[in-house]
Amino acid sequence: MNVFDIVPVKFKEGKLFLLDQSLLPNEERYIEIKTKEDIWNAIYKLQVRGAPAIGVAAAYGVYMSVRDIETEHVDSFKEQFGEIKEYINSARPTAVNLSWALSRMEKILLQSQDKTVNEIKALLFAEAEKIRLEDEAACLAMGEHGLSLLKPGMGILTHCNAGTIATAKYGTCLSPIYLGQQKGYDFKVFADETRPLLQGARLTAWELLKAGVDVTLICDNMASIVMKNGWIDAVVVGCDRMAANGDGANKIGTSGIAILAKEYGIPFYMYVPTSTIDLATPTGDDITIELRDGEEIYKMWYEKEMAPAGVKTYNPSFDVTAAKYITAVITEKGIVYPPYEAGLRQALESK
Ligand code: MRU
Repeated sequence: MNVFDIVPVKFKEGKLFLLDQSLLPNEERYIEIKTKEDIWNAIYKLQVRGAPAIGVAAAYGVYMSVRDIETEHVDSFKEQFGEIKEYINSARPTAVNLSWALSRMEKILLQSQDKTVNEIKALLFAEAEKIRLEDEAACLAMGEHGLSLLKPGMGILTHCNAGTIATAKYGTCLSPIYLGQQKGYDFKVFADETRPLLQGARLTAWELLKAGVDVTLICDNMASIVMKNGWIDAVVVGCDRMAANGDGANKIGTSGIAILAKEYGIPFYMYVPTSTIDLATPTGDDITIELRDGEEIYKMWYEKEMAPAGVKTYNPSFDVTAAKYITAVITEKGIVYPPYEAGLRQALESK
């Protein structure tokens, strides 16, 4: 099966389905989302994950959560929508695409002064579809821009999963790898396993193998040696929120790789659709970093607990890569180089 046949968010015959990414690579199963609790749980439990995919799922999820509200009173509908939106928005804090997509949905509501509740519901569905299709187009465009920075035969290191299942389709930083694959570029990709939730091992390696890409799985602490061996010509990663100054939050471990890449003189490319740029957040220090349960570190993947009982844990899900370590930011509008402040603004404002 073609890797692009596996879409993370599927709306079919009036029903919303999400690929349960927590089961991969062992099981490819879709779950149905009917209520606000269903979508909140799916986002919180990483059944749908990856910044753009979270945004797309939240847009459809909020639509599903309000679709069956039985009222003809627009004010009452709006009030209930507002509460549901806030609830869904509380599922995870770091990826800005969640609040971005929900705000876009809310804007539809605020612009619908003279509409009936049923008309508003139809407009909300249309907006969710638009968000999904725009993300698909953005990922394809990022792939084309990103491929211009890569050469056939290159060794490429990636972290976490910013592939087709982290987006509507194609992925952010894996998009140029797929495009290159179609053109016979023969990349040699190294995928960090990405502890503790193993997105690199479970998801990136799975996706790339399905697409026929040459992929080698390494532990996170092996990034330095593969760079030293001369096997890496570029690092490509995604982003969950980029601040106005170009600092980018991404999966925990990303900032260490960026620092290593600088040491070894390897370009470090961050793929950031404009939906992930947050000009309201001035710097990386202002980004809220999600803290998750310590059991993910010592219990989740093991038959027996792999730490002494009672040990303290610290499990941040993301870290911030300072703008000074990012060689270029690839958006769907084009490639932005440092200094980032003006370039990011321009990318966001350009049509
Ligand atoms: O916790 P996750 O799996 O949602 O984290 C995802 C990442 O950090 C991705 O690298 C990020 O969303 C990149 S954008 C596709």
